[in-house]
Amino acid sequence: MKYMLTLLVVTVTVVGAIDNKTAPVDPVILPCGPHTMKLGDVVLVQSPGYPARLTNKSSCQQNIVCQSPSAKLGVACEVFNLEDCDNERLIISYDTTSSTLCGNVKPNGVFPTNAMKLEFITKGVNDSTGYNCSITCLR
Ligand SMILES: *[C@@H]1O[C@H](CO)[C@@H](O)[C@H](O)[C@H]1NC(C)=O
Ligand SMILES: *[C@@H]1O[C@H](CO)[C@@H](O)[C@H](O)[C@H]1NC(C)=O
Ligand SMILES: *[C@@H]1O[C@H](CO)[C@@H](O)[C@H](O)[C@H]1NC(C)=O
Ligand SMILES: *[C@@H]1O[C@H](CO)[C@@H](O)[C@H](O)[C@H]1NC(C)=O
Repeated sequence: MKYMLTLLVVTVTVVGAIDNKTAPVDPVILPCGPHTMKLGDVVLVQSPGYPARLTNKSSCQQNIVCQSPSAKLGVACEVFNLEDCDNERLIISYDTTSSTLCGNVKPNGVFPTNAMKLEFITKGVNDSTGYNCSITCLR
């Protein structure tokens, strides 16, 4: 009888978990390297070790592709704070376009592409805040 009760409790818990399948989950933080997204997916791209300040030399390249060829990529940076471009920069490239970003100007907007390359380099000279951006694969 005790066993039966335990089983019942386990079953109820599992059903509860299934009910929450549609609840929003925290977006993944992208590691360096290639990454494929589906329409509607959201990921976070952050400076290395974020929210730790950028005190060390480091670099990271991320190639992001949204599987749908007609998709666009929405970029929304909650925080963007780098040094001057000589010490620290984020390069966003797609098609034949390439922008080098540094300082405080957030690259927020909808990019007319389903594939984007992000290259981050810092010499770790000063201790800037870095960046925390979401990327959404939009229809
Ligand atoms: C499911 O969601 C409810 C209400 O939002 C919450 O109380 C419960 O803890 C959640 N269960 C799981 C397994 O996340
Ligand atoms: C920076 O490098 C030092 C020494 O290698 C290390 O102890 C520290 O954890 C690093 N900081 C970050 C934010 O990665
Ligand atoms: C970074 O540090 C150097 C050396 O201390 C300083 O000359 C420079 O102004 C700093 N740059 C920024 C963007 O803070
Ligand atoms: C990074 O930004 C996302 C939203 O864009 C936010 O949910 C998350 O809490 C932020 N992470 C940190 C460590 O501030």
